[in-house]
Amino acid sequence: MAKTLIIGACGQIGTELVLALRKKYENETIIASDIRESIPDILANGPYIQLDILNRDEVRKYIIDQKIEHVYLLAALLSATAEKNPDFAWKLNMEGLFTILDLAKEGHINRIFWPSSIAVFGPTTPSKNTPQQTIMEPSTVYGISKLAGENWCAYYHSKFGVDVRSIRYPGLISYNSLPGGGTTDYAVDIFYSAKEGKEFSCFLGKDTELPMMFMDDAIRATLELMNADSDKISVRTSYNVAGCSFTPEKISEEIKKHLPEFKISYNPDFRQNIAETWPSTIDDSVAKKDWNWICQYNLTKIVSVMVKKIKIRKNLI
Ligand code: NAD
Ligand code: SER
Repeated sequence: MAKTLIIGACGQIGTELVLALRKKYENETIIASDIRESIPDILANGPYIQLDILNRDEVRKYIIDQKIEHVYLLAALLSATAEKNPDFAWKLNMEGLFTILDLAKEGHINRIFWPSSIAVFGPTTPSKNTPQQTIMEPSTVYGISKLAGENWCAYYHSKFGVDVRSIRYPGLISYNSLPGGGTTDYAVDIFYSAKEGKEFSCFLGKDTELPMMFMDDAIRATLELMNADSDKISVRTSYNVAGCSFTPEKISEEIKKHLPEFKISYNPDFRQNIAETWPSTIDDSVAKKDWNWICQYNLTKIVSVMVKKIKIRKNLI
């Protein structure tokens, strides 16, 4: 059983990933870590270590001393937050990656997962059915950092044999954890307003179509890629994966089927400019061919689960 460290474990994806890994493997082997002092209650069923990925020496010492074999590196600033602090976003999103890639190059880690994003695409990319390989000229600091990161992953793989695997996640929709500062966050926030009976003020325009995915699909994709045979992995930058694409208007119509009183207004802000540079739909045929990726949640199914689960969560608080 590989000892596994998840860095950035208290965030939207980390929370769910740690739970999924602990369900599949022994709790004691799945170590959650984050810069945060305390962890969400939901992660208290296994080990936790406070680590700052920017403290290279401390991270190196921990990974080497503890004989960590697999690392999921999730700590990053997302698109909207990164635009507000570009220097720090570049530092956090890149330096942490080099720390982990170097440890693998030296033979201390034998497998890395590092997520990329649909943000690697830009205004010149074909926005419909965006191919795995296409024009990539991102116009956000987040997208620039992810595209650079992808290329560094491929470089470390080809030059040093580092086994690093990556997915270009679309916007992720979850109920156990909140999103952390992205352009797609509205698609989670909307459910809280809907359940509270409040009008939702959407920061994207009603026709802005973006690729999205339910968290269960994203976690399954991550574990399937991490468990795939190395010789099946033809892409060492990052894989396109598609869930379902929708607009704010489409998701609000779907929510109204469960909560007919729900109201939405549209007040686009700076995140609209980011969204307009991203694809609306994604071609994930390479992931399907290489490691049999298949999405299980369409919009109808996502909304039905989210409406139910967010009610349960609110009742528990
Ligand atoms: P998040 O913001 O919810 O979580 C990031 C976590 O990293 C937080 O818990 C934060 O405390 C931690 N962190 C921040 N600085 C740190 C540091 N210096 N050291 C250690 N931990 C630190 O982000 P997320 O949505 O879970 O995203 C995880 C990864 O997936 C990121 O790389 C992100 O770019 C990528 N991604 C996310 C989405 C999405 O929709 N959520 C989509 C595409 C890609
Ligand atoms: N959900 C992410 C964001 O909006 C996409 O990488 O930043």
